[in-house]
Amino acid sequence: MAALAKVVPLMDLESRRLFWVKRFEICRQISKLAPEGQELRYLSLHAARTRTINNARDAYQKGDMAKLESILSGFERNNNGFFRRILSEIAPFLGEARLAVDLYCGPGLFTRELKKIVPAVFGIELVADLAHQASKFGKIEVFHGSPNEVLKNMGDWHVDAITSIRGFLHSPWDERVEALRESSKALNAGGKLICVEMLREDVPTGRRHNPGTWYWYIAEYQSVLSEFNLTLEHVSDTINNEGDPCRVLVFVKH
Ligand SMILES: C[S@@+](CC[C@H](N)C(=O)[O-])C[C@H]1O[C@@H](n2cnc3c(N)ncnc32)[C@H](O)[C@@H]1O
Repeated sequence: MAALAKVVPLMDLESRRLFWVKRFEICRQISKLAPEGQELRYLSLHAARTRTINNARDAYQKGDMAKLESILSGFERNNNGFFRRILSEIAPFLGEARLAVDLYCGPGLFTRELKKIVPAVFGIELVADLAHQASKFGKIEVFHGSPNEVLKNMGDWHVDAITSIRGFLHSPWDERVEALRESSKALNAGGKLICVEMLREDVPTGRRHNPGTWYWYIAEYQSVLSEFNLTLEHVSDTINNEGDPCRVLVFVKH
C-alpha cells in the first residue's frame, strides 16, 4: 500500500518567499567558493532537492571540497539529462514560437536552454537576489516577482509559450489557479503552456508533502485549464529528476 503523505499547514506567500530566500542564502554562501566564471554552476543548487542542498551545505561547512564538487557534478548531470529530455519533448510544439516566458525560473539554467529553440525568452523569479544573479551570470532577462503579479503587469504582451519547470508545484491551489489564468491570458491563440513537474500517483492531490510543495494530478491541470481555453496536447513518459518521476505536459490555447 502506498505510504500516506505528510499533511502540514499551508504557508502564505510571504512565508514561502522567506523559505526560498533562505535556500538561496545557503547557495549564495557556497557560491563564494566558485572560481570566476563558474558562479552559476554553484547557484544552480537553488533548484535542487532540499536533501541535495543540505548535503552541499554540510560539505561546504566541513570544507570538504571533493564532496561539494561531487554534489555539484551530480546535480549538473541530472539537469543536463533532464533539460535535454524536456527540450526534445517540447521542440516539436514550439516550431513557430518567437517569444516565451519561463515562470519560476530560479537560476535560469532552463531559461538559457529554451533560448536555443525560441529566439526571445525571459524569466520570472520570486527571490529578488536570485533574479539579479541569474541575469548577471546567466545573461538572461529576469523579472522579479510572483508570476501572477508579473503576468498581470505585462498588460498587452502576447507570448507564444509559457514554461514552468519544477515550478507550479510550489504554489497552493488558489495561487496556482491564478497563475494558470494569467498564463492563459498572456498566451496567443495556438500558444503553448508547458508544465514539467513531479506527478506521482501515491501522493494525495492538493496535499503538501515537502516544505513548499503541493501536488496535482494531470486531471487537475486538465479540469482547471479547460476553463481557461487550454487543452492537453501531449504528455511525455516519465523522466527521472533526482529520483522523482516527472512528466512534460503540453497544453494548447484556443
Ligand atoms: C525548484 S526551483 C526551479 C527552478 C528552475 N525552473 C529549474 O528547473 O531549474 C523553483 C523556483 O521557483 C521559485 N518560486 C517559488 N515559489 C514561487 C512563487 N510563488 N512565485 C515565483 N517563484 C517562486 C523559487 O524561488 C525557485 O527558484
